[in-house]
Amino acid sequence: MSAIDYSEKIPNNVNLAEDRALQRALEQWQPNYLQWWQDMGPDGAHGFDVYLRTAVSVDPQGWAHFGHVKMPDYRWGIFLNPGDPERRIHFGDHKGEAAWHDVPGEYRANLRRIIVTQGDTEPASVEQQRHLGLTAPSQYDLRNLFQVNVEEGRHLWAMVYLLHKYFGRDGREEGEALLERRSGQEDNPRILQAFNEKTPDWLAFFMFTYFTDRDGKFQLMALAESSFDPLARTTKFMLTEEAHHMFVGESGVSRVIQRTCQVMNELKTDDPARLRAAGVIDLPTVQRYLNFHFSVTVDLFGADESSNAATFYSTGLKGRFEEGKRTDDHQLRGQTYRVLQAAGGRLVEKDVPMLNALNEVLRDDYIRDSVAGVERWNKVIEKAGIAFRLEVPHKAFHRNIGGLAGVKVSPAGQVVSQAEWQAHRDEWLPSEADRAFVASLMGRVVEPGRFAHWIAPPAIGINRQPIDFEYVRFN
Ligand SMILES: [Fe+2]
Ligand SMILES: [Fe+2]
Repeated sequence: MSAIDYSEKIPNNVNLAEDRALQRALEQWQPNYLQWWQDMGPDGAHGFDVYLRTAVSVDPQGWAHFGHVKMPDYRWGIFLNPGDPERRIHFGDHKGEAAWHDVPGEYRANLRRIIVTQGDTEPASVEQQRHLGLTAPSQYDLRNLFQVNVEEGRHLWAMVYLLHKYFGRDGREEGEALLERRSGQEDNPRILQAFNEKTPDWLAFFMFTYFTDRDGKFQLMALAESSFDPLARTTKFMLTEEAHHMFVGESGVSRVIQRTCQVMNELKTDDPARLRAAGVIDLPTVQRYLNFHFSVTVDLFGADESSNAATFYSTGLKGRFEEGKRTDDHQLRGQTYRVLQAAGGRLVEKDVPMLNALNEVLRDDYIRDSVAGVERWNKVIEKAGIAFRLEVPHKAFHRNIGGLAGVKVSPAGQVVSQAEWQAHRDEWLPSEADRAFVASLMGRVVEPGRFAHWIAPPAIGINRQPIDFEYVRFN
């Protein structure tokens, strides 16, 4: 089960050859996918040989093979973690029953919606990142960008496989629609707003992979608990790939900070203007980027009170983060959870039924996880002897979804008037000038082992290769 067959047109470990109709349907989708990659995948990179990892098995050890690959020849495939035939549903109204190996008719529409919503984020991020290769700060970083891009492409395959195999004609239509929507396009945008935002520069890319790919981790972990076993198994394997994306973000931001702190110490200044003149990104600008990416990402978890969230949980479609490690009754009836609301110009806590608050529960788990990495960035600043701390903004800051959407809140959590918001907006979120400055630093560095001035080299290379390894052959 765990070995992957690469002799097939579509590499897979799901015995695709035994299901001719499904194989034919996916083989018809494949050229459309490749056309999408050609049109919307990394700009100008189709001739490069890139040092990529490819999954060769889904075993925890040794699933990755590294080698130079021309990206259009990357072997996107369908990989599921091995199944447990005895697996039982462990939460919701069906707790204790056998896990489903097919889609129960009554949950078909909701499951399809969950899979399509997840699937839509995957090509969206490739589209958002498609121009970044033109301004990569090093070969090492360029390679990491492309690794993230091919794996997001594979995540789309993972969701399209489920749609084709379990949802018949509707699933095939959804598979086509996933290739037709476009990030940021007015008439046919991606489903979720954070995936229609631009990722215009590399600081935005690192923040995106730190914060928004981490949303991916939490959504996938909730789906990995699903009673629909094929969804649980496919998302478990996606999570092994996701870990690298968050590493790219965390280490990328960390290297930006490291370089800035070095120049701050050399020049003995914290004056943003002088640091900008010296060609590095001042820490207040890093903070504003952090505020933006954190706030648009926490919106992705949805409304703080949601009857859909309750339904998805009670019917067993989507669990909580680490459902199996929790010690409650896994049904949550009669329990409550505190959510934040704006009332009379203040933020107040309100108890709501736990089942309706499950988006908020997942958002709070996500926030705890995000804060941990920000503390690691602060360690870099501390080690350089600089008195500055990055902070995750208050969860009510800059929100556009749920009960907090209508109120203006400062990063520190103070409710402010519209006029105060306007007066401080450019201190709290990246201004046009910030973005223009960061854009002005972006310029492609192509020589092996060289790095743009505004970012420190990584501590180690990829797959224990040296830092000056030829990660990308431009041909
Ligand atoms: Fe993904
Ligand atoms: Fe990702």
